[in-house]
Amino acid sequence: MHKARVAIFISGGGTNMAALLYASLMKDSTFEIVLVASNKAEAAGLAIASAEGVKTFVHSHKGHSREDHDAAMEAALVEAKADYLALAGYMRILSDEFVRRWEGRILNIHPSLLPKYKGLETHRRAIEAGDTHAGASVHIVVPELDAGEVLAQARVAICAGETAASLAERVKFAEHQLYPRAVSEYVSRRPAI
Ligand code: GRF
Repeated sequence: MHKARVAIFISGGGTNMAALLYASLMKDSTFEIVLVASNKAEAAGLAIASAEGVKTFVHSHKGHSREDHDAAMEAALVEAKADYLALAGYMRILSDEFVRRWEGRILNIHPSLLPKYKGLETHRRAIEAGDTHAGASVHIVVPELDAGEVLAQARVAICAGETAASLAERVKFAEHQLYPRAVSEYVSRRPAI
C-alpha cells in the first residue's frame, strides 16, 4: 500500500508529533513520517523523533528573514520527498508564498473549537468567556492565521475550577486522538500526489 509521506514541523515538546509518529507505526497506517523539522534545536520532540529513527532537521529562525528561514525548511521537505506537512506546535507563521506553494497539503492542530479563539491563550479565553466546552481543531493552513477549512474537531468539557493549564493538559489527550485520525482521513481522500 502506498503511504502518504508526511513531514512534521515542531517548536516544542512535540507530543502531537509523537502521537502522529506512533499512529504511523501502527499496522495499516495510511501515512508515514518522513521528517521532523524544527526552528529550535532544543525542541524536545526532535530527540524523540531521532531516537525513533526518523530524519530530523533544525534551522534556527534567528538572524534570518521569514523567507530565508522558510526556504531552508522547505528544502528539507523537498529533500525528504514529503507529500504533506503537519504543523504540530510550530510557533512560526509561514510566509504566504510557502503556504501557496503547498496549498492544500499543510495541516495544523489548533487548541480551540475554531472559529472561536484564533491565536494564542485559547484555553484562558475559553474559561474566561464561561464556555462549557473547549477543544481542538485540525484545519487546512491558508495564509490567514487559523482560518483554513476545519477538517475535524474534538470537544472537551470545561470542569468546575478548571485552570488554563489543567484544561490544556486534558485537551492534549483529545488532540492526540484527533490529529492522527484527521491526517489519515485527509490523505486517504485525496488522490496520490
Ligand atoms: C498543542 O496544544 C497544539 O494544539 C498547538 O500547540 C500545542 C503543541 O503541543 N498548536 P505539543 O508540542 O504537540 O505537545
